[in-house]
Amino acid sequence: MKNILVTGGAGFIGSNFVKYMLNIDDNVSIINVDLLTYAGNLQSLAEVAENPRYRFVKGDIRDRELIDNLFYKYHIDTVVNFAAESHVDRSITEPEIFLTTNIIGTQNLLDIAKRHWKVEPDNKYSRDYAAGIKFLQVSTDEVYGALGQTGMFTETTPLAPNSPYSASKAGADMVVRAYNETFGLPVNITRCSNNYGPYQFPEKLIPLMINNCQQGKSLPVYGDGMQIRDWLHVSDHCSAIYRVLEKGQTGEVYNIGGNNEKANIEIVKLIIQAMGKDESLISYVQDRPGHDRRYAIDNAKITSELGWSPSYTFEQGIAETIEWYLKNGQWMEQVTSGSYLEYYDRMYAVRK
Ligand SMILES: NC(=O)c1ccc[n+]([C@@H]2O[C@H](COP(=O)([O-])OP(=O)(O)OC[C@H]3O[C@@H](n4cnc5c(N)ncnc54)[C@H](O)[C@@H]3O)[C@@H](O)[C@H]2O)c1
Repeated sequence: MKNILVTGGAGFIGSNFVKYMLNIDDNVSIINVDLLTYAGNLQSLAEVAENPRYRFVKGDIRDRELIDNLFYKYHIDTVVNFAAESHVDRSITEPEIFLTTNIIGTQNLLDIAKRHWKVEPDNKYSRDYAAGIKFLQVSTDEVYGALGQTGMFTETTPLAPNSPYSASKAGADMVVRAYNETFGLPVNITRCSNNYGPYQFPEKLIPLMINNCQQGKSLPVYGDGMQIRDWLHVSDHCSAIYRVLEKGQTGEVYNIGGNNEKANIEIVKLIIQAMGKDESLISYVQDRPGHDRRYAIDNAKITSELGWSPSYTFEQGIAETIEWYLKNGQWMEQVTSGSYLEYYDRMYAVRK
């Protein structure tokens, strides 16, 4: 049995990943540690809450004692680090929390993993680790900065982050790299493009637009809406991470992308059309400072070396995603009203 510590597993991608892994691999058990910030929602995990191979622990990746105890108690052999402050707009107004969670939190996890997994923890020259262990850092294409009209990010593109969010993710990537170079810790870093799919917090483009459309509210579009992103369905991101866990070469970085570039305004218009609404709902608002113009991922390395490729076409994925949000109005309602924040107390207060 693999004992995976998933951090940030109550967030959008983490919660999808927890369910994906429990479904696809009977040989894993998952400890999900999540601070339950505004972005963490245990209702997204309701269907696995009682699964004997799953356990939720409320906690902070910066909390050394807690993480150390989890390693002891659950014999953690794999870490998949999703936990992060993830919203660029918030990083512009409150950068500090991005640096402490995304960089210091990652370093804390690395340090504890190193000590638990090293065969001779007190020997600073030893690079021997227990068999079958891995630290996987979930990063983002935003660490590469922005592209012009042409070109794509490869794993060797120099890092040039432009927002406090992407700078904090780039900082974490550098620390992960250093733990591999200096201590020989078996790590992988994955850098994925924009995800979409079920259970995404409606501060992000696609669920925000679906929700506003449904409610007949205006659809705020930054600048001219021509910012281009490479969209990937979240379940394809999960399958890519699983593939890297299984087959990724130690120390390697893998880009993950869907070969699916779309301008924000295209997505907004597509949602309007699919939901039978009118483009008069669009309201252009002042652009975000430092807004990256274009991202595009070259995923040749993960496709050729690890044999992964996305299974969703964008047309299929976006149609299913719109349908999911429309069918799961209650989930959206609980998120937008804030009532999901009480779920932990209701579900876990009496358990412990
Ligand atoms: N969403 C995307 O399109 C995308 C693309 C590429 C990479 N990523 C990366 O994937 C990861 C997950 O992204 P997401 O969109 O699911 O984010 P999210 O904001 O939905 O989820 C983040 C989760 O981390 C938790 N968290 C925050 N601070 C914590 C702390 N100090 N300790 C423990 N838990 C904490 C939150 O409660 C939340 O559940 C992030 O690292 C992000 O950088 C996201």
